Amino acid sequence: MTSFTPPIHGSNPHLPFGDQQDSPFYGQDILSVKQFDRAKLEYIFGVAHEMYEMVARVGSFDLLKGKILANLFYEPSTRTSSSFTSAMERLGGSVIPINNVSYSSVTKGESLPDTVRTLEAYADVIVLRHPEIGSSALAAKYAKKPVINAGDGAGEHPTQALLDLFTIHEELGRVDGLTVTMMGDLKYGRTVHSLSRLLTLYDVKLNYVAPEMLRMPAEIKAEIGAKGLPQAAYESLEPVIGETDVLYVTRVQKERFEDPSKHEELKGSYVVTTETMAKAKDEMIVMHPLPRVWEIDMAVDDDPRAAYFRQMEYGLYIRMALLAMVLGKA
Ligand code: ASP
Ligand code: CP
Repeated sequence: MTSFTPPIHGSNPHLPFGDQQDSPFYGQDILSVKQFDRAKLEYIFGVAHEMYEMVARVGSFDLLKGKILANLFYEPSTRTSSSFTSAMERLGGSVIPINNVSYSSVTKGESLPDTVRTLEAYADVIVLRHPEIGSSALAAKYAKKPVINAGDGAGEHPTQALLDLFTIHEELGRVDGLTVTMMGDLKYGRTVHSLSRLLTLYDVKLNYVAPEMLRMPAEIKAEIGAKGLPQAAYESLEPVIGETDVLYVTRVQKERFEDPSKHEELKGSYVVTTETMAKAKDEMIVMHPLPRVWEIDMAVDDDPRAAYFRQMEYGLYIRMALLAMVLGKA
């Protein structure tokens, strides 16, 4: 008996006509910043820059015409979800938006592997945000199509770290030699976990400013220490504001607290104000992955060093670059 090969599944779903198989990240998952080296980052930043120029010149174009992205979000999002949607649509593709899983069959008890297997039947790439650490790796284990981690609990947020690094690169013109001060919820903040790891590829100094309850996890500090990066922890910004080139502020991740009263205790424990900015260098930037709650006073927004709104725009170009790369078109 000859074995039966189903007509569709017998072909390689990763090799549609016209794709560039030698494109970096073609068909790959983006799960952790540990996947990148400096050469790959330079390549991504180069493509992101081209995306910026194309958007400025023509707005939208047909690089990913016919491709479909499934945007699967088990946690709230404004920027990541809408910038991936915008990125796909500006590249001529389309999006299946599952921004509220309570209206999907997840509510009926469908597992993450089955949900992902369903979506990949209809889409070419899956962007996943989920409250559990390791969820994207689990999804990627079951999916044949690329999975992009859009935040897995307190684990990682690799595309945010890429856009953060791109922001530093574009705004200050270099990364090597900088002092980066991370302030806020360093314990549960996945963006600082990813960014600090990514910065080990550069020659930077890292300062951590956090209340005792929200310190950078020891295992991440050990990873960074093993790469030889100088790092120091403080409970106040005062001693390091004057030497800081990048002040990266984060929100207290209240959704990760088992005891909500602890979150209340921390509310307002660190705030960037115009007085803070008066002590900072003339050439430095303030970043924040957003959403901001109370950590940066709105009066700081008019300071040209406040880069957080520009930062989220850089995210569009980085996500356009990533989609083009994983789909073999860059
Ligand atoms: N938006 C970022 C995240 O999803 C940061 C935050 O929510 O505070 O990790
Ligand atoms: N920075 C970020 O991930 O924002 P959202 O949570 O709004 O997606």
